[in-house]
Amino acid sequence: MSSFQKPNLVIRGFKIFKETLNIDEQNELIADLREIIKKAPLFSPVVHSGNKMSVRMTSAGKYGWHSDRNGYRYIECQKNGNNWPEIPNSIVSIWKKLISTDRNPDCCLINYYSEGAKMGLHQDKDEADFKWPVLSISLGDDALFRIGNNDKGGKTESIWLNSGDIVVMGDNARLKYHGVDRIRFGTSKLLKNSGRINLTLRVVD
Ligand code: SIN
Ligand code: MN
Repeated sequence: MSSFQKPNLVIRGFKIFKETLNIDEQNELIADLREIIKKAPLFSPVVHSGNKMSVRMTSAGKYGWHSDRNGYRYIECQKNGNNWPEIPNSIVSIWKKLISTDRNPDCCLINYYSEGAKMGLHQDKDEADFKWPVLSISLGDDALFRIGNNDKGGKTESIWLNSGDIVVMGDNARLKYHGVDRIRFGTSKLLKNSGRINLTLRVVD
């Protein structure tokens, strides 16, 4: 990873570090993610309405993010009772470089977007301490990322995120609505079967 610490772009407090991970670093992450997914397979979370999300997910770390008809929360083990796999060094080291060496993230949420998948505007607010930012890593196909406001509604702005980009959502961006309108399926060769992976690193407790 290039050692610069300054974002190329800041939109509404979202710090966007374009083209931060080179192809070798991206491939290393993908290899580590494959091992995680063997131990904690991707699943389609159900939301409050009973509908399934179009994004498939899994987690690594002390906590995994979970959603069902009772709502969203973090859980300490998988449905089969196993712990979540550890967050690999390749991922933690990015947090250490860009965020802090004082505390590591408790959760790495892994989102996989296949063709047609998207994520509605939402806030990340299931964590105990909003002083810690959420760090997001994009891998694979391009995604149209939408940035809103602290409250629902109002004008939004969008930016295309590409493989190797990192977004830091902290300070006044920490509780802003954000989401992914669509991906451009097949735009990247990083994943054999195309699609996009987004990793979000979170301090939870
Ligand atoms: C998220 O907000 O959890 C995911 C954002 C993204 O996929 O870029
Ligand atoms: Mn989010």
